Amino acid sequence: QSPKYPFLRQQGLLPARKLPNALLIGVKKGGTRALLEFIRLHPDVRAAGSEVHFFDRHYAKGYDWYRQNMPPTLEGQITMEKTPSYFVMREVPQRVYQMNPAMKLLVVVRDPVTRAISDYTQVVSKNVSLPKFEDLAFRNGSQFGLVDTTWIPIKIGVYIRHLERWLKYFPLKQIHFVSGERLIVDPAAEISNVQEFLGLKVIISEKHFYFNTTKGFPCLKKSEGQSSHHCLGKTKGRSHPLIDNEVIERLREFYRPFNARFYQVTGVNFGWP
Ligand code: A3P
Repeated sequence: QSPKYPFLRQQGLLPARKLPNALLIGVKKGGTRALLEFIRLHPDVRAAGSEVHFFDRHYAKGYDWYRQNMPPTLEGQITMEKTPSYFVMREVPQRVYQMNPAMKLLVVVRDPVTRAISDYTQVVSKNVSLPKFEDLAFRNGSQFGLVDTTWIPIKIGVYIRHLERWLKYFPLKQIHFVSGERLIVDPAAEISNVQEFLGLKVIISEKHFYFNTTKGFPCLKKSEGQSSHHCLGKTKGRSHPLIDNEVIERLREFYRPFNARFYQVTGVNFGWP
């Protein structure tokens, strides 16, 4: 970048790397990639492409390292990154607060039962010898045993627990919740709310999306800065293993009170079965 024009830099007329002012903190398998790809179509948003993991894995490297991992932005543009593990890692809320108490936080949530199955599907795709879902979801490997709340794919879905930790540092109005289910059936509506939350002019709308019947998901149309229409990669929208209905029902029962509390605290009924 040009050191020749310090004046232009000072005026914000040359792009410079800045620490993020918005974070997509989770949840894993909620639809975080889709949300990031959709919101970064906005001309006033610049986002890091890959997960930076600053607040959990690379915190000791310091703010300068973090800034170097951000894309250059112009004055007035929002800098953001997504790292879904932030939502569940204990040390993260305080660290984010310390860096920027005005940070805007985005969370995509999805029915925790489907989320757990999606999480498992991802793990099993890398390790085919993994036991069956139901053997891991319940203690003693039996669906008649208690739900194994220490198994990470189950634990992540107790959203209220994680949210409570964030609420010790951030007021609810600084956290925007996106429904992972609605992001699939009506991406324009969800993205419109996200743009409003971020204080952006609503530019991303229906005309940016089309429903790809082969993939079974909304994809992006060809647009400015987008050479052709495109869908998310193969690892997004995988088919899930068939899980016994009784197992699903037991997990639904387990999550019900946590979901109810989550709806109450967020003021949003996500309508999970
Ligand atoms: P599945 O692969 O289980 O269907 P994340 O990006 O947080 O890992 O979330 C992945 C999930 O995003 C996918 O889970 C899929 O259901 C969901 N998703 C939402 N919108 C999507 C889209 N437009 N294309 C592909 N997947 C999408």
